[in-house]
Amino acid sequence: MAQERSYILPGGLAVERTQPAIGAVVSGIDCSQPLSEALAADLRTALYAHGVIFLRGQGGMRFSDHLALAEAFGTPVRDGPDPERPEITPVSARAGSREGTASTWHSDGVYQPEPPAVSVLRAIRPCTFGGDTCYSSAVAAYAGLPDELKEEIADLRFTSSLAARMPRNYGHFGSAEKWEELNTRYPPVTQPVVTVHPVTGARALYTNVAWSLAIVGMDEAEGQALIARLSAEFTRPEYQTRWSWEEGALAIWDNRLVQHYGVPDQQSDRYLERITVRGGPMLSIADWEARAPAACDAG
Ligand SMILES: [Fe+2]
Repeated sequence: MAQERSYILPGGLAVERTQPAIGAVVSGIDCSQPLSEALAADLRTALYAHGVIFLRGQGGMRFSDHLALAEAFGTPVRDGPDPERPEITPVSARAGSREGTASTWHSDGVYQPEPPAVSVLRAIRPCTFGGDTCYSSAVAAYAGLPDELKEEIADLRFTSSLAARMPRNYGHFGSAEKWEELNTRYPPVTQPVVTVHPVTGARALYTNVAWSLAIVGMDEAEGQALIARLSAEFTRPEYQTRWSWEEGALAIWDNRLVQHYGVPDQQSDRYLERITVRGGPMLSIADWEARAPAACDAG
């Protein structure tokens, strides 16, 4: 069925899709003003429908507005390096450097038992040439798999570990102390290869090259081949959208629905600030069916 490119939600939020499979620019909202419940509901609707939503022209926002916007999606995580603003994770990248750009396909916090649900990233000093962020739909990546592969992976889990994947990567986490603290807090975990969105019931591929180490119960080489096969789905352009940063821009994405990739070609230093919203355990298909028997065909 053909999709409308643009539409208006009940609270007045205007939605313009960026691509058929993923992404929308939303407008009709001023984040420097108190957020009405009707607009907050629209933002959630748009996010769950498109996986990632983008806002422009929000240069009047302050930290408190960023926080209020994130709260439309849940409870902000407070583990940033600044005690005055613990909700903020700084996202900085130097011109010409890959460091800090997160230039692999990933979802945020896969190594945590309860990864953040939503990430709200705001341009503070954006790079206006290069340094885009790409997003790929995990729902489309799953939906496009052959049926026999969907069946094969339905109950599989993969292992993930911060220490194994980012050995002493202090730059990414701010300091050696922060890295040690995170490793103590987050021992190795397992996550479902296919996850189900807790609100919409959409099924999505969750394995990724950045954070998937092995498939539980599978021979190592076989598991690596499967991780590579599945993760490659995210590289299909028809599942992707791309966001160029500018003054006053924001991107809000659902870590259960999309993966992202920071393109490391920024031509000037770039500084963004991220607030993530607390999530729960990633639901497998079996978890979802046990929790919501009436909706087990969803997705
Ligand atoms: Fe990220």
